[in-house]
Amino acid sequence: MTKITIRADQPKGTINRNIYGHFAEHLGRCIYEGIWVGEESPIPNTRGIRNDVVDALKKISIPVLRWPGGCFADEYHWKDGIGPRGERPRMINTHWGGTVENNHFGTHEFFDLCEQLGCEAYVCGNVGSGSPQEMMEWVEYMTSDADSPMANLRRRNGREKPWKLKYFGVGNESWGCGGNMRPEYYADEYRRYNTFVKNYGGSKVERFACGANSEDYNWTEVLMERAGSRMHGLSLHYYTVPGDDWSNKGAATGFNEEEWHKTLWKALRMEELIAKHGAIMDKYDPNKKVGMIVDEWGTWYDVEAATNPGWLYQQNSIRDALVAAIHFNIFHAHCDRVTMTNIAQTVNVLQAMILTDKEKAILTPTYHVFEMYKIHHDAELLPVELSASKYVLNGRTIPMIHASASSSGSGNIHLSLVNLHPREATAVSVTLAGRSVTDIGGSILTGESMDSHNTFDNPEAVRPQLFENFEKADGNIAFTLPPRSVVTLMMR
Ligand code: AHR
Repeated sequence: MTKITIRADQPKGTINRNIYGHFAEHLGRCIYEGIWVGEESPIPNTRGIRNDVVDALKKISIPVLRWPGGCFADEYHWKDGIGPRGERPRMINTHWGGTVENNHFGTHEFFDLCEQLGCEAYVCGNVGSGSPQEMMEWVEYMTSDADSPMANLRRRNGREKPWKLKYFGVGNESWGCGGNMRPEYYADEYRRYNTFVKNYGGSKVERFACGANSEDYNWTEVLMERAGSRMHGLSLHYYTVPGDDWSNKGAATGFNEEEWHKTLWKALRMEELIAKHGAIMDKYDPNKKVGMIVDEWGTWYDVEAATNPGWLYQQNSIRDALVAAIHFNIFHAHCDRVTMTNIAQTVNVLQAMILTDKEKAILTPTYHVFEMYKIHHDAELLPVELSASKYVLNGRTIPMIHASASSSGSGNIHLSLVNLHPREATAVSVTLAGRSVTDIGGSILTGESMDSHNTFDNPEAVRPQLFENFEKADGNIAFTLPPRSVVTLMMR
């Protein structure tokens, strides 16, 4: 039996909609094929950007998009990606499969994409192989309305008005692919590069410093101490990798219960990472002015057979849906510090929302969690008291049920629940303290097996269904939560 009490009269802060942000890198088939097909493509597009992908992302109200990397960001020279496409230089994408990058998707195309999506732009600059001058000029090119060299270059390339750039990352993974720097060195580099990220005219760019890899708490300590007062956000990267090493990460489908359990256990580690990095940030920033920006997270498995190993293409099952839901519940619980997250990555790479094959596009179980959790965007977090069984396997223990609740501006209460157990259902009783309920509705995402997933031949094997078998007893709401499921309830 699972007992849940929602403290409807004790709101704990706003769940920033940017927690539902995305990341799209020049990697494999994410940008090229997944988003950009070019104006001449038979695939329906608007100025080269696929319409089906834009429509799908608009349906989940994508709030913010991070680009162009990732590791790619620190070898990207933005001037290669402007001007007539046929004249743009080609380069080798050294991180991701040695693919030749033709630079057809550059600054103008990225902002066109953001404008089509109606989302904020988050651009990541090049610290590793670029210069402060290059970074300064890029920000001027994007945001200045003055009669200045870079603003005029932008005008000559067909864009009169500056774009709205809300977020700018000063380097990516500077401890690794972004330059293998020590935190002390990067903190100084951040201070230097950040000096040249200017606010032109009325623009106000929020700057994010490169943060830690997983449990590298020393990185957070050094960055906060030496540069914490000069940033709006500090990032954190953590991937859920079921295997014990990077050469054997585990398969996206066809796994056993041990791998199911271990994946969820690893996903739950996000709670500890946020709590511990957050405690360090609290020491230097007790008023929580600096956001924790989890700008890369998600599952990372072995690539699908017969695909380029450098392109990170993987399937996505109901297990990934549970991983996403668990992450969102954790991010909500820390919404006083976590102000943005960006799942890696939007299309065709890692834990993707959309998979494409030429003109076909399918939505993954992860996409459906983004869709179901839209109800939490900018909502007020409500405390949840939870009493439930544990799910124990081979000596490892994780909770069987994971939950989060919020109240929307219209006063509706929303509860999201995850049943992590792959075989057992549970009876649930929900008490709403401080409010009465007249109306209940819900949806459920589940699959027939642990690795149920959508394919181009069967694109709707996993999709949300109505969830409606509630009973009201003694003022409580009672129902059965099926195994391996994500449920969202709306109470009015
Ligand atoms: O998302 C794939 C890669 O993971 C990114 O390029 C990098 O930042 C991280 O290591």
